[in-house]
Amino acid sequence: LRTARETGPAKQFMKLGLFGFGCVGQGLWKVLHETRGIRADIKRICIKHPEKQRPVPAHFFTTDPAEILNDPEIDVVVELIDDAEAAFEIVSAALSGGKAVVSANKKMIAHRLPELYALQQKTGAPFLYEGACCASIPIIRNLEEYYDNDLLTSVEGIFNGTTNFILTRIFEEHLSFGEALRLAQAGGFAESDPTLDVEGYDPKFKLCILLLHAFGVFVQPEKVLHSGISRLNDFDIEFARSRGSVLKLVARCFRDNDKVAAYCLPRFVPAGHRYAGVKNEYNAVTLESAFSERQWFVGKGAGDKPTGCAVLSDVSALRYLYKYEYRKFSQNGTFFDPAGAELTVYVRYEREGQVAESDFEEISERYASGRARYWIGRISLEKLQAAKWLKEEGVNVIECG
Ligand code: HSE
Repeated sequence: LRTARETGPAKQFMKLGLFGFGCVGQGLWKVLHETRGIRADIKRICIKHPEKQRPVPAHFFTTDPAEILNDPEIDVVVELIDDAEAAFEIVSAALSGGKAVVSANKKMIAHRLPELYALQQKTGAPFLYEGACCASIPIIRNLEEYYDNDLLTSVEGIFNGTTNFILTRIFEEHLSFGEALRLAQAGGFAESDPTLDVEGYDPKFKLCILLLHAFGVFVQPEKVLHSGISRLNDFDIEFARSRGSVLKLVARCFRDNDKVAAYCLPRFVPAGHRYAGVKNEYNAVTLESAFSERQWFVGKGAGDKPTGCAVLSDVSALRYLYKYEYRKFSQNGTFFDPAGAELTVYVRYEREGQVAESDFEEISERYASGRARYWIGRISLEKLQAAKWLKEEGVNVIECG
């Protein structure tokens, strides 16, 4: 954090205008009212469905965004809705109006980072979004502040609570995918559209945000290879068990000289590996750097209070006029280019000839039976990303860690 001497005196009391009152909005309400010493108050909450029953007095609610955006008493707009387009409109209007903004909308932020960066530069208004990446793990501010000098080489981890919850319940309790997903939804971990979780979009959005704060590169999510856990079948699960492993959905970005690459894939993780102990909705982030070498953070990555707590921490940082400086972007000449990166993967497929052998550098294991076929082999990230067979029915790719 910048000191009061550098930034002027801290604000005495902040009035918040909240957009959205779903799981995270209610989490923020709870943590704000259970935390002593935080000098902030929610003045108004803008919602879409006034007919819904809510655990908060009706006078807080409005359906008119202008009641927040045009209220001079409101210093901070907290955007917690799940519609990415509408969220961008709210955030840009608030920043343009000179208000500080806090958001946890990873989809919106990942897609609109260049515009959001430009708006912050133009208006000088701060925009904080720690709650968008791994909820309770303070990773963005750490990348901005603590890892400002050390040469980071990779950032990876389990960035999605819902899929980690599902995988844990499948491996530990033999639950079906559907049952485990229903429990994750009941726990308030899943997105309103859970395909964002199970198909790996959500952790990829978080990865794109971290790419900017770790390596200073703006990367559109469409440029990053991803696969989730929705293609997993009983054969894959038995295969993992037979090798003494569990499965985790891992997002990863890494640097090789000036080049940065990224992807998000399920990974076999041996039972003794540190990620195997990261269970249910917990997330983990591992950083590798030249001087500190490996460090990792673990914490709840989803849920009302863990995310509400991260949002509250951003609100609290605004009292000291904290802003992201995006120093990595201004400092370095890195660029996004997956060329040259290679992965070792397990590819399970259905039909002979379905997967192009010529795409692989080397195949070290082959299997075919009436139930399934698979290969384990080395493939370049570029070839894997371009492979048409990757999205075909009956094909699943898992990274061999
Ligand atoms: N659906 C997200 C997850 C919520 O499961 O991780 C937190 O970003």
